[in-house]
Amino acid sequence: MSYSATPDRYAVMGNPIAHSKSPDIHTLFAEQTGEPVNYEAILVDLDGFAQAVEDFQQSGGCGLNITVPFKQQAWSLAQQRSARAELAGAVNTLHYKNDQWYGDNTDGVGLVRDLVQNHHINLHGSSILVLGAGGAARGVIAPLLEQKPEGLIIANRTASKARELADLFSAYGPVRGMGFDEIPGQPFDCIINATAASLQGEVPPVPATCIGSSTCAYDMMYAAQATAFLQWAQQQGAQPCIDGLGMLVEQAAESFYIWRHVRPQTGPVIALLREKMQKT
Ligand code: ATR
Repeated sequence: MSYSATPDRYAVMGNPIAHSKSPDIHTLFAEQTGEPVNYEAILVDLDGFAQAVEDFQQSGGCGLNITVPFKQQAWSLAQQRSARAELAGAVNTLHYKNDQWYGDNTDGVGLVRDLVQNHHINLHGSSILVLGAGGAARGVIAPLLEQKPEGLIIANRTASKARELADLFSAYGPVRGMGFDEIPGQPFDCIINATAASLQGEVPPVPATCIGSSTCAYDMMYAAQATAFLQWAQQQGAQPCIDGLGMLVEQAAESFYIWRHVRPQTGPVIALLREKMQKT
């Protein structure tokens, strides 16, 4: 721990950014660990990402979280990237060190930690269904395959995108891509919604038979009320039904660790955010 008078500067960049919970999360991490961290949210013009990163670094910035729609640009901008960022094709964490931006992606590890450590879901030997084949899905496929499931199916509205994604990861484990209408109708151990359907209050057309009494349903989105997907999964008997708040805090904790080499406790922060969210 260092006790410099001026805290080190960190920020999240995105557009929109006003509703980001990252400043709250990292401020709680800094308080908890005593690390001298100042963390803000920066709204970046859609055509101004590289300049904003440059300005931030010139003003002494040490690290950034990157969110929609700049994760691919952050990947290109990083002079060095971790293996998991390379595979994800996107960067959500930038760390300035040795006069370079180092890019990482903590989304996948955030999801796996929330499932395995916080919710005690055993993914080893399990059957996993991932819904969606956009950036959110791509970031989590390799870390899920690292858990050695029996099989992982990627299903998407546009079937070709699911197949392309599965091809990309076929060297890392048993993964197949398909359209929603091709999903085998038996219960899965774990169904993860990585589509943007919840934003529109919609549920991807998954056969109800994919849910059994011990199916874990996970939505990478979160809201004060259960998302449309989780409401549907609950009605079909899925148990447990989990939203993405824990993933959000876990990916932030991994970023904090990359920057500070200190691992904050996530449990109290998840509980506090949940409480705050339910009051608003
Ligand atoms: P992200 O980077 O957040 O994953 P994206 O790249 O725009 O965002 O991808 C959004 C994903 O949600 C895609 O898999 C998309 O399906 P298509 O590839 O067919 O477009 C999926 N999606 C969005 N709205 C959906 C809906 N109403 N029902 C089912 N899938 C939806």
